[in-house]
Amino acid sequence: MATTTDLKVTPASDALGAEISGIDLREDLPEAVIDEIRRLWQEHIVLVFRDQELSMEQQLAFAGRFGELGERKRAPDALRERTEGIYQTNENILLVTNIKVDGEPIGAFGDADMWFHIDSGYAEKPYKYTILYGLELPSKGGNTLFANTYKVYDALPDELKAKLAGRKALHIHEYLRTEKVDVTKDISNSPHYYHPVFITHPETGKKAVFVDRLMTRLIEGMDPDESERTLNQLFDLMESPEFVYEHVWRLKDLVMWDNRVAVHGRTWFPKEENRLLRRCTVEGEPLHE
Ligand SMILES: [Fe+2]
Repeated sequence: MATTTDLKVTPASDALGAEISGIDLREDLPEAVIDEIRRLWQEHIVLVFRDQELSMEQQLAFAGRFGELGERKRAPDALRERTEGIYQTNENILLVTNIKVDGEPIGAFGDADMWFHIDSGYAEKPYKYTILYGLELPSKGGNTLFANTYKVYDALPDELKAKLAGRKALHIHEYLRTEKVDVTKDISNSPHYYHPVFITHPETGKKAVFVDRLMTRLIEGMDPDESERTLNQLFDLMESPEFVYEHVWRLKDLVMWDNRVAVHGRTWFPKEENRLLRRCTVEGEPLHE
């Protein structure tokens, strides 16, 4: 059985992330080990555990040590075909995959690249954590990019911080991957929510930027052109290499991140090759500046 002294921590990049070894996540881990993982999670935002042999039940059991498991969100009927895979039979599991069986997707979020986003950022209570496990991988690409949004906040000019303090932004999702939602039309049937542009992490007390290129469409109460310019400025900064860790997947990797302070995206991969990751989440709370 692992103890806290068995954990070996290797930073994954200068921006964020750490690889943790010396632990088998199938074990019924002592509370002290869970506390230590939680502490490391707060420090590094993204944790990587290599060579883990995890069934779906074992993944859910481990994730459940960190809070109430998140339910897979149901898309509105008009968008349903983009998200409901035929192998998604457990309400806490989402299969991130391009695999089809008899022409039907078995999971969601298919092929190619995907812009930076926050998982369920369009909901009132975005997931607190995402826990993803590697089951099938393409020969190249399909890497996950993570941005450290504490560092992005710290890097903002004071003038911009002052301009955005107290502002909210619209997050909206129509299950697209590299395309913005048209918000000039009626959006009442598309999942959306207004969150503060800056949030304070409830455990660390630190401020972070809470926007993403895929789903954040406008800053409330700001002139549309200025809103677009300002958001693009935030996205460009967030995605610059100094703030990003690029995770190159290996089979049996368990990668878990704090979804409130790690905006993430995916690099392109060949569509004729299979990619399958098993995702579960931990329920979140409303966010505050
Ligand atoms: Fe995601």
